[in-house]
Amino acid sequence: MQLKDRVAIVTGAARGIGRAIALELARRGAAVVVNYHTSEAAAHEVVEHIRAQGGRALAHKADVSRMDEANGLVKAALDAFGKLDILVNNAGITRDTLLMTMSEEDWDAVIAADLKSVFNCCKAAVRPMIRARYGRIINISSVVGLAGQGGQTNYAAAKAGIIGFSKSLAKELGSRNITVNVVAPGFIPTALTDVLSEEQKQAVLKATPLGRFGTPEEVAYAVAFFASDEAAFITGAVLTVDGGLVMH
Ligand SMILES: NC(=O)c1ccc[n+]([C@@H]2O[C@H](COP(=O)([O-])OP(=O)(O)OC[C@H]3O[C@@H](n4cnc5c(N)ncnc54)[C@H](OP(=O)(O)O)[C@@H]3O)[C@@H](O)[C@H]2O)c1
Repeated sequence: MQLKDRVAIVTGAARGIGRAIALELARRGAAVVVNYHTSEAAAHEVVEHIRAQGGRALAHKADVSRMDEANGLVKAALDAFGKLDILVNNAGITRDTLLMTMSEEDWDAVIAADLKSVFNCCKAAVRPMIRARYGRIINISSVVGLAGQGGQTNYAAAKAGIIGFSKSLAKELGSRNITVNVVAPGFIPTALTDVLSEEQKQAVLKATPLGRFGTPEEVAYAVAFFASDEAAFITGAVLTVDGGLVMH
């Protein structure tokens, strides 16, 4: 499953799951635009890591919840590498609290960073992909978008929204040889999950048939598969990478 000569954008690629995705796509030969919002030094470290392995990469700062910055991100890929084959919408945040105590700001921030960002980046990316008659869009949802989770109404709405959005876009773009798929991770220890209590983590572990948490790399392998030529006949799919936590 080589990605030689492919050009990819990975949003939120300076750390966590996005970092693992950027490294895996680069390992398979893709040139990677490493998007970051606040983690500048970490993004440059990812780029240096890829270059040290002989790959091509550049870091690009963009708040993907903003349409103008998403447009700038796609333009950066086109300017540097001449095309865009693969878009991975990975950027995301949480603002967990019960609905009773959730502020409008908590709701808006999560919907903007997790869902509107996907709209923004897809909208910016589809024009060059349609022109090229080739594209692989992979959106990172969550098992929470499938099963729900108390304390995460904002996050679950955004992540479920990504699934409906991706299936709809897959129908729109199928005739243009552009696939749109979703990877829905279970519990993967990163900065995002650090906020959970030990009790919450143990409850997830107990409900996971494989009896362990996942790794960012295990999510990255699924993304790399959807990005590959071998996945050419798969679109509108939702692949859980969760140790069996949510079987749907
Ligand atoms: N970890 C899990 O268990 C888990 C489970 C299911 C789904 N997911 C999903 O996987 C994705 C990655 O999560 P993670 O666990 O790797 O979290 P993380 O370590 O907290 O990383 C989040 C990334 O998103 C970026 N980001 C946030 N808002 C952004 C914005 N407005 N514009 C650009 N980038 C932005 C951050 O960039 P900066 O650092 O540069 O600000 C960071 O690189 C998220 O979509 C998350 O919902 C994670």
